[in-house]
Amino acid sequence: MATPDLLIVGSGLFGLTIAERAANEHGLSVTIIDRRDHLGGNAYSERDPETGIEVHKYGAHLFHTSNQRVWEYVNRFTSFTGYQHKVYTTHRGVVYPMPINLGTINQFFQAAHTPDEARALIAEQAGELAGADPENLNDKGISLIGRPLYEAFIKHYTGKQWQTDPKDLPASIISRLPVRYTYDNRYFNDTYEGLPTDGYTAWLERMADHPRIEVRLSTDFFDTTQELNRDAVRGQIPVVYTGPVDRYFDYSEGTLGWRTIDLETEHLSTGDFQGTSVMNYADADVPYTRIIEPRHFHPERDYPTDRTVIQREYSRFAESGDEPYYPINSGKDRETLLKYRAKAENEPRTLFGGRLGTYQYLDMHMAIGSALSMADNKLADLLRG
Ligand code: FDA
Repeated sequence: MATPDLLIVGSGLFGLTIAERAANEHGLSVTIIDRRDHLGGNAYSERDPETGIEVHKYGAHLFHTSNQRVWEYVNRFTSFTGYQHKVYTTHRGVVYPMPINLGTINQFFQAAHTPDEARALIAEQAGELAGADPENLNDKGISLIGRPLYEAFIKHYTGKQWQTDPKDLPASIISRLPVRYTYDNRYFNDTYEGLPTDGYTAWLERMADHPRIEVRLSTDFFDTTQELNRDAVRGQIPVVYTGPVDRYFDYSEGTLGWRTIDLETEHLSTGDFQGTSVMNYADADVPYTRIIEPRHFHPERDYPTDRTVIQREYSRFAESGDEPYYPINSGKDRETLLKYRAKAENEPRTLFGGRLGTYQYLDMHMAIGSALSMADNKLADLLRG
């Protein structure tokens, strides 16, 4: 076996950042394995063969950050376009801007409220359940933004995301619902935002483009027929593991719950289906949560004017064999996670990272930021040990 100085399980942004730092900063030979047949994890995108449009294979990925270090780091591998994300939502056949802002409020109430008037109106409507401690997500939503806006824009959308009536969901799922009392409908508030100019895959491949980094695709860490499997390397060589933490320990403390999404792709004979990249559907009678039209992520590109591609997104609970996307984080999940964390602390020569390895939703900049700090601190300790 050609033993690397460091084995990384998973070629998502967490694993790629560790690999790049280990090769360049620590001078190590690194092998990255991934069970998929491409690198990049969930940020991977590919060219749609029919239209040439770049499609985000695992769902819409928008890069945004206020972390200066992360921004400077990612700019070493790609430049970014000036794309600014904006989302709209269809409710009862009318399109509104999201997140809820003064434009949404005035359109919904057919009014011309000033910011102060709108604030007073929402405060009055949110007072409906004043004094009562919200027992479920439904009551929490009403107490945050009032019943009319909650029922139009949040209730059914959230119900579809969770396949559960919000009255049966814990209030703790939401701590706040953003309402802006200006007409600003930029989705993200971060200092930096954009999309990789040459696409995600070019960016991700550049991170692994180093003579000391080897990438082995279609290689599962738990497949004992491949040489760098868990049982062979455990305690023998340093490993950074970014797969699911419960899988690493053979689900010995139980499984952690995830939601997943299904994307239904359709090609259409029009140059523009919806005029924007993401349209949410707020009503219960539309089974999908949103439609993504990827051509709008890159208005600067020369895409065909007579064809487009769309992805309808459906949300559901993940079953075994599904891609785990969003941690459910129920009380039981949190208890189970604590047990796995204790086991991970005692695992010789293995560090757990990334969204699957830590059972946390991480935006891309958070995954990169946390990998950079692991490379600064824990990785050096691991290599010494
Ligand atoms: P990631 O999941 O990317 O990588 C883990 C890798 O490990 C995978 O490639 C997997 O195949 C591999 N692996 C698992 N088990 C293995 C095994 N046994 N053997 C070998 N390999 C194994 N972020 C953002 O900033 N803006 C956005 O708009 C979005 N949008 C978004 C949409 C959707 C639907 C999701 C699910 C996520 C986002 N994200 C996002 C989050 C983004 O995808 C996330 O930050 C990165 O994927 C994190 O990278 P990781 O490396 O942690 O995980």
